[in-house]
Amino acid sequence: MAICFGFRLAIPLALLISLAAGDEVGFIYNGFRSANLSLDGIAEFTSSGLLKLTNGSLQQKGLAFYPHLVNFKNSANGSVSSFSTTFVFAITSEYPSLSAHGIAFVISPTRDLPGALSGQYLGLFNDSSNGNDGNHVVAVELDTTQNSQFNDINNNHVGIDINGLNSITSFSAGYYGDGSRQFRNLSMIGGQRIQVWVEYHGPEKRMVVTLAPFRVSKPKTPLLSFHLDLSSTVNNEMYVGFSSSTGSVSTTHYVLGWSFKMNGEAQELMLSQLPKLPRLGPKKRSRLLTIGLPLILVSIILVAVSGVVYFLRRKRKFAEVVEDWELEYGPHRFKFKDLYIATNGFKDKELLGAGGFGRVYRGVLPTSKLEVAVKRVSHESRQGIKEFIAEIVSLGRLRHRNLVQLLGYCRRKGELLLVYDYMPNGSLDKYLYDQPNLTLNWRQRLNVAKGVASGLLYLHEGWEQVVIHRDVKASNVLLDGELNGRLGDFGLARLYDHGTEPQTTHIVGTLGYLAPEHTRTGKATPSTDVFAFGAFLLEVACGRRPISPSQTEAIILVDWVYSCWCKGDILEAKDPNLSSDYVAEEVELVLKLGLICSHSEPGARPTMRHVVQILEGDVPFPEISSLSLCSSGLTFAHSEGFDDFSMTYTSSTHKRFSHSPSSVAASILSGGR
Ligand SMILES: *[C@@H]1O[C@H](CO)[C@@H](O)[C@H](O)[C@H]1NC(C)=O
Ligand SMILES: *[C@@H]1O[C@H](CO)[C@@H](O)[C@H](O)[C@H]1NC(C)=O
Ligand SMILES: *[C@@H]1O[C@H](CO)[C@@H](O)[C@H](O)[C@H]1NC(C)=O
Ligand SMILES: *[C@@H]1O[C@H](CO)[C@@H](O)[C@H](O)[C@H]1NC(C)=O
Ligand SMILES: *[C@@H]1O[C@H](CO)[C@@H](O)[C@H](O)[C@H]1NC(C)=O
Repeated sequence: MAICFGFRLAIPLALLISLAAGDEVGFIYNGFRSANLSLDGIAEFTSSGLLKLTNGSLQQKGLAFYPHLVNFKNSANGSVSSFSTTFVFAITSEYPSLSAHGIAFVISPTRDLPGALSGQYLGLFNDSSNGNDGNHVVAVELDTTQNSQFNDINNNHVGIDINGLNSITSFSAGYYGDGSRQFRNLSMIGGQRIQVWVEYHGPEKRMVVTLAPFRVSKPKTPLLSFHLDLSSTVNNEMYVGFSSSTGSVSTTHYVLGWSFKMNGEAQELMLSQLPKLPRLGPKKRSRLLTIGLPLILVSIILVAVSGVVYFLRRKRKFAEVVEDWELEYGPHRFKFKDLYIATNGFKDKELLGAGGFGRVYRGVLPTSKLEVAVKRVSHESRQGIKEFIAEIVSLGRLRHRNLVQLLGYCRRKGELLLVYDYMPNGSLDKYLYDQPNLTLNWRQRLNVAKGVASGLLYLHEGWEQVVIHRDVKASNVLLDGELNGRLGDFGLARLYDHGTEPQTTHIVGTLGYLAPEHTRTGKATPSTDVFAFGAFLLEVACGRRPISPSQTEAIILVDWVYSCWCKGDILEAKDPNLSSDYVAEEVELVLKLGLICSHSEPGARPTMRHVVQILEGDVPFPEISSLSLCSSGLTFAHSEGFDDFSMTYTSSTHKRFSHSPSSVAASILSGGR
């Protein structure tokens, strides 16, 4: 008859073979998911297919037996047959180094061992039955306690028991690895899976027990090999199974798989198919919870926080201020991000210069690949910013070949960025005096002077409203690719020049270019621009700054040129670097024009239209003899208007300055007033 268990599931995990003769019973359980074992005590099957003999409850026993009797004796002559079994077990304990009692493989006449106690008797015997020949019980104990009553050798041993727990032979749990005779201990508690082989050789009357860690193949040298005649102990028919007990330490005993064969070698277990042990050991779990989980959480938080920080920093880095009223200026507005990319993050490498209003960077716009100059102007959030932006945008509509084209702007908190056409040849001042071997010849200088004059005229008259530059000077004149002079920075001074009352006016401009009435009244007019242009003309012709510091006293350029004129040799004032390559009449004209423009009386200065006409030769220079001019006592210099600045300048002796010339704007803006 064939008895088949375990076909409730599509894939049978337990394969059971039983031959009709009964002499050759064999079965295999690769896990116990659908096994039909006879259970007793608290033994149970887990849903994953483990045979869980005990579950951690104290003072309990658990028994599990193959449900059918197995023939152990040869029916013809009554000798005990050979048999072989192998199984995998695991014991987990509440404590890593302490366990309750162990597991035993049992051959027993009954499936329930009536009267047996839990605890030290492994669920097999009781006080009075222990050691009784009438028990007919054979057991291989996997004992995890040392009980002196049974003469146990230690708390981790394997023994063979006949009718009682006093082992007839025992040995410390372990195995001889790698075919060698090197003995290795195996701790049977702590949840590690261990495979056991128990074999009885009937003809030789020898019982052999072998252990190995899970997935280690069966060692050639057994742990126990003991001559044992079972004929008086086993009955003809016996049950085979497992028994286990807990004592006073919470312990769980598992059997993962089991194979048994009468008169032959037990089929090998499919180790990979055996059910997994539950994640056990409070130690492991707590380590996961106390170290792993917080670590993971901290990493997640770190990643999240750094992500947010990166996002916020990026957002702040590229933040701009855009208000509703600016929307109409759309095309004139640049994205800060684009300007940031264009200038390589405003790297010093791209710095073109730093002036009174801020630093200027070279850049290439990412989409249009247009070369631009970006000026970063810092400003406090002023009331007038709206008007100023409006003005800037309208200035952007100004187009003249002698003006540096303003392309647009970008506004950030406390900062305004102005985008201009890039002028490859830089500013004029460096050609005049900064670098002696880099200079312009007279034709080029005159061309620049004419260009600037026509640019300034356009600002004054060429547009629907008068635009006052307010800061005409050599360093604000830029040279394009063909060395044409172009006025830059027009209207920018306006940003710092909002006052209407003289007392609160912030005068912006550069010392040496400021008309006396401008410093007095604080009011910029086309005429104050003409004054500055005069200083600029003298600069171009003389190759000197309007006020040059020297060891003894600062030289006021306009006074010096004037004195040369009065002496009758105005050409003495010309730039020595010009060598002989110049037209004397032109130089003279420019010098005289510069002086006229620098007249301290605004009414005596020509207009820009007049200046252009004179420069172009359309109108002759007004006939003034140097003699009459010099005797009339006209003043050109800055002797007026410095009274307000006595903090910075020594009284009214205008020729003696205590410091080198600097931008009035700078000293006023930094709170000099
Ligand atoms: C399990 O074995 C017992 C004892 O032989 C038997 O009574 C029961 O019917 C079997 N159950 C199954 C599901 O095979
Ligand atoms: C062990 O099993 C018994 C019976 O099934 C149950 O009463 C007990 O609560 C279980 N103990 C644990 C610790 O799960
Ligand atoms: C009993 O019979 C078996 C086979 O039938 C044989 O192998 C064994 O040696 C016999 N034993 C004795 C004690 O005669
Ligand atoms: C001990 O076990 C035997 C059976 O093995 C039983 O007859 C006896 O009553 C038990 N004794 C006690 C004290 O439980
Ligand atoms: C194995 O365990 C026994 C008993 O605990 C001990 O005496 C022996 O030194 C151990 N051997 C090794 C190799 O750890």
